[in-house]
Amino acid sequence: MTEKGLREVVAAATSISDIDGTHGRLWYVGYDIHDLAANATYEEVVHLLHQLRLPNRAELDALTDFMTEEREISSFLRDMMPTLAQQTSPMSMLRTSVSAASAYDPDGWDNSAEANGRKAYRLIAKTPTLLAMYHRMRTGQEIVPPNPKLPHAANFLWMLLGEEPSQEDADVLDTTFTLYADHTMNASTFTARIIASTLSDMFSAITGAIAALKGPLHGGANEEAMKMLEEVVSPERAEAYVADRLERKQKIMGFGHAVYKTMDPRAIVLKKLSREAGERHGDLRWYEISEAIERTVTEQKGLHPNVDFYAASVYHVLGIPTDLMTPIFAIARMAGWTAHVREQYADNRVIRPDSEYVGPRHQRYAPIDER
Ligand SMILES: CC(C)(COP(=O)(O)OP(=O)(O)OC[C@H]1O[C@@H](n2cnc3c(N)ncnc32)[C@H](O)[C@@H]1OP(=O)(O)O)[C@@H](O)C(=O)NCCC(=O)NCCS
Repeated sequence: MTEKGLREVVAAATSISDIDGTHGRLWYVGYDIHDLAANATYEEVVHLLHQLRLPNRAELDALTDFMTEEREISSFLRDMMPTLAQQTSPMSMLRTSVSAASAYDPDGWDNSAEANGRKAYRLIAKTPTLLAMYHRMRTGQEIVPPNPKLPHAANFLWMLLGEEPSQEDADVLDTTFTLYADHTMNASTFTARIIASTLSDMFSAITGAIAALKGPLHGGANEEAMKMLEEVVSPERAEAYVADRLERKQKIMGFGHAVYKTMDPRAIVLKKLSREAGERHGDLRWYEISEAIERTVTEQKGLHPNVDFYAASVYHVLGIPTDLMTPIFAIARMAGWTAHVREQYADNRVIRPDSEYVGPRHQRYAPIDER
C-alpha cells in the first residue's frame, strides 16, 4: 500500500508549477518564485499560469481590461450577501458565493475551453469583491465599489479598507498574491482536479477547492499563526510558549510542510516583507515575535516556517483582519486552481484511485433481532 496521505503518488502531469522539496525551490512554468516575487505583477502571474508564458504588453492589457470589467458581482450575489455576512464565516461565504455565482455566469453551462477561460478570469476578478463586500457589510460599513483605475491587489485593499493604499502596501499585497497563486498538487488543487475529472463544471471544482482549503492543516494555518502571535504577546515569551506546546504534542501552526524539508521559499520572501512592512508601519512587534518563534521551533523541533507563518504578520500590519487571511489565500490561489482545472479538462481521465480493504471478510447477514 502507498504511504498514508498519498505521499509520493504522482496524481497528474502538469506544466503549471513544480517544487523541489529537498532544496526549497518552487517554479511557476519554469520561473523561480523569487524571480516572479521580485519582478512580476499578479496579473502577469495569472497569464503565466493559464497560458504557460508571460504576457506581452497587448496580452497583459487585454487580460487586465477583462478582469477589471468583471469585478462587479451579480445582483443575485449582492442580495445574498447580507445573510451570508450575518450568518457565516468568511470561508463559508466564499464557498457558498462561488457555488451560487454559477447561476449568473454569462457562459452558463458551456464547458468549452474558451468558456472555461472566461469563467476562470471572472472568478479571479470577482472573488476579491465578494470578500471585501462581506467584510464591509458585517462591520456595518458602506460598500466600496471596485476602482477600475487600480490593479487587482490594490483594488482589493481599496474595497476592503475604504481608502487607496500606499504604493508600498499595494506592492506587498500583490507579491503575497503571487506567492500564494499556485503550489502543485496540494489538497485543494487535487480536490479541484478530481471534481474537474468527472467533467463537472468550473464552479463546482472551485467550490470544492475552497472547502478543502478551509481546514486548519491547509489554508487555515495563516489565521492560526496570527492567533499564536497574539497569544505570545512578546518575543521574550516565545521560547516558553513553544516548549509548552510541543510538550503537549500540539502543532505550531505555520511550521512544517508535506513537501519542503527546508524553509519554504515563499516564507523567505514573506519574512523579508514582514520586516519591511513592519518597519514602514512603525509596528515591528509582530515580526519580532515571529522571528523569536521561528528560532525556537527550528532549534527545538528542526521545523521551518511554511508560507502561512510570515503571511500572518504581513497581512496584520496591512490592516487585514485575522479571519480574512485564509480567504485571501483563496482569492490569490484562484489563479492556480482555475489553471489546474483547465489543464485537467485538456487531457482528462477520471481520477479514481484504489483503496486497500482492511476490514473483516466472509460476514453473513443476521436478522436484526439475532444481532
Ligand atoms: C503541513 C503539515 C500538515 C505536513 O504534515 P505531514 O507532512 O503529514 O507531517 P506530519 O504531520 O506527519 O508530521 C511529521 C512529524 O513532525 C511533527 N510536526 C509537523 N508539523 C509540526 C508542527 N507544525 N508543529 C509541531 N510538530 C510538527 C509531527 O507532529 C510529526 O511528529 P512525530 O513524527 O513525532 O509524530 C504539518 O507540518 C502541519 O500540520 N503543520 C501545521 C499546519 C500548517 O502550518 N499548515 C500549512 C501548510 S502550508
